[in-house]
Amino acid sequence: MFALQSYEAKPPLILIADDEEANRELLSHILERAGYKVLLAKDGEEALSLFSNQIDLALLDVKMPRRNGFEVCRAIKKDPETRLVPVVLITGLINTNDRIAGIECGADDYLHKPIRREELTARVRSLLRLKQFTDELENAEVVLFSLALSIEAKDPYTVGHCTRLSNYSVELASALGLPEEERVSLRRAGVVHDIGKVSIPEHILLKPGPLTEEEREIMQQHPIVGERICQPLRSFRMVLPIIRHHHEKLDGSGYPDGLKGEAIPMTARIMTTVDVYDALTTDRPYRPAHSPEEAIAIMREEVGKGWWDGQLVEKFRKVLAASGK
Ligand SMILES: [Fe+2]
Repeated sequence: MFALQSYEAKPPLILIADDEEANRELLSHILERAGYKVLLAKDGEEALSLFSNQIDLALLDVKMPRRNGFEVCRAIKKDPETRLVPVVLITGLINTNDRIAGIECGADDYLHKPIRREELTARVRSLLRLKQFTDELENAEVVLFSLALSIEAKDPYTVGHCTRLSNYSVELASALGLPEEERVSLRRAGVVHDIGKVSIPEHILLKPGPLTEEEREIMQQHPIVGERICQPLRSFRMVLPIIRHHHEKLDGSGYPDGLKGEAIPMTARIMTTVDVYDALTTDRPYRPAHSPEEAIAIMREEVGKGWWDGQLVEKFRKVLAASGK
């Protein structure tokens, strides 16, 4: 897996929120000596006003004026920008209610007063290591998504295609009752399914007319290249078959592997269904967009030829009708 390193190793930034000055001083003293940078807040409101995605970890006293630690933690975990920042609650009293409240508000860990230096630094170090992994993973995903969208942007006829495919495929997967992890994979695959087109020369990629035999062979490499690009990311494990097989046809006449019927993974068949629909309902250099009804009629004909999964086409038609499209 490739990791994106920042060029300057900045010390992690830790927010300490506690209404007692002596506690703030003690915690900041220990953490600064351990090499961290700290930011201090004296109550819950101030903690939230200082909070941003630049903060790597938060230590929150549970009992604070103007929003207690639970409330601050809940707000941090609710915001998509900051939800992956680890939060440690600091509490004097340990009772079951507090413990449950801590779990419910999404806290990552607890520390009990009196704070011991070794325990504090050990917990902080291990949570920051975890945070670094998630940061690297997020960075890698962001790079892949940006690359995929920059390829999409090359062709004025496909703008918005990736987002629509993400949305359509998740809607169809939900209607089919597919589990969460498959829906997440489809959302990602919607964005990156054509990322392999980065290897296709522009005169082929943007050619308005039909491709020659040789050009078609090059074009048909894009699922294989796409799979190779995304392979290093472990979190994309379930996305890879969708990328590789989104141009297969049920009768085995698709590419790159000529898979037949159920040998084509269900998630890939879902992506193919919505990909074909989106291609038909958007303008092309050689024809205007088909209406949704026309597109479904064409797809039904092609189901008859043995290309697409008829059950998925019919289910998708219902999903579209239910959402008023
Ligand atoms: Fe494709």
